[in-house]
Amino acid sequence: MAESEAAAAQRRGIKSFVVRAGRMGTGQIKALAELGPRFVLPYQPAAPLNYEAVFGRQAPVVLEIGFGMGGATAQIAQTLADHDFIGCEVHEPGVGALLKLIGEQGIPNIRIFQHDAVEVLEQMIPKASLAGIHIFFPDPWHKKRHNKRRLIQPAFVAKLVEHLAPGGYLHCATDWQPYAEQMLEVLGAEPQLQNTAESYAEKPAYRPLTKFENRGIKLGHGVWDLVFRRR
Ligand SMILES: C[S@@+](CC[C@H](N)C(=O)[O-])C[C@H]1O[C@@H](n2cnc3c(N)ncnc32)[C@H](O)[C@@H]1O
Repeated sequence: MAESEAAAAQRRGIKSFVVRAGRMGTGQIKALAELGPRFVLPYQPAAPLNYEAVFGRQAPVVLEIGFGMGGATAQIAQTLADHDFIGCEVHEPGVGALLKLIGEQGIPNIRIFQHDAVEVLEQMIPKASLAGIHIFFPDPWHKKRHNKRRLIQPAFVAKLVEHLAPGGYLHCATDWQPYAEQMLEVLGAEPQLQNTAESYAEKPAYRPLTKFENRGIKLGHGVWDLVFRRR
């Protein structure tokens, strides 16, 4: 079968993000300096994590891709305090913002990679190890010629699934209907995944409103959640 344009783009290393310059607030700068060494993990190729060593306990681990400013991540980590969370975000002010929340709220169960989640997944997350994966409001890449940058496409979803433990879940949400339809199609076509709902899912109670979602709602967008499980 011919390789799809999207799969070829991922193979060529086309990224799902563009690193934007963003102004760091003084609180974010302080949090990076003071809390970064403890909560930000260094990216290292071919170095699978030992979760127990990282978190100092045994608990189910959830990976989040693209936490933005981290408000939802901080809330979820407190709601699901018996889980440990690994958040990936390339936007430095977002990393600073989440560290600030970790410090202010004394959240022990989050670690951060300021690095491309695609590489973190491949190089540092052990296969079949994750209890869950959260991908909330990934960049929609609206323009047709940019669609190839979208995260949710067959080749990457197959990689995500490999890293889920059996029964582990993949929870995606978007406010962009064409992307929601793509998610439903791609996740539905992955043989190792089973939809937990007939089609789109009810928003799970642990997911609060995210910053990006709020922006979408103000623009009149709908919101679609999808929750699939590894068979
Ligand atoms: C549209 S924002 C949504 C942020 C947040 N989840 C929310 O709902 O408010 C998407 C975020 O994903 C990040 N991102 C995109 N691709 C990524 C990747 N491969 N690795 C890490 N972060 C990524 C971007 O930097 C951006 O902050």
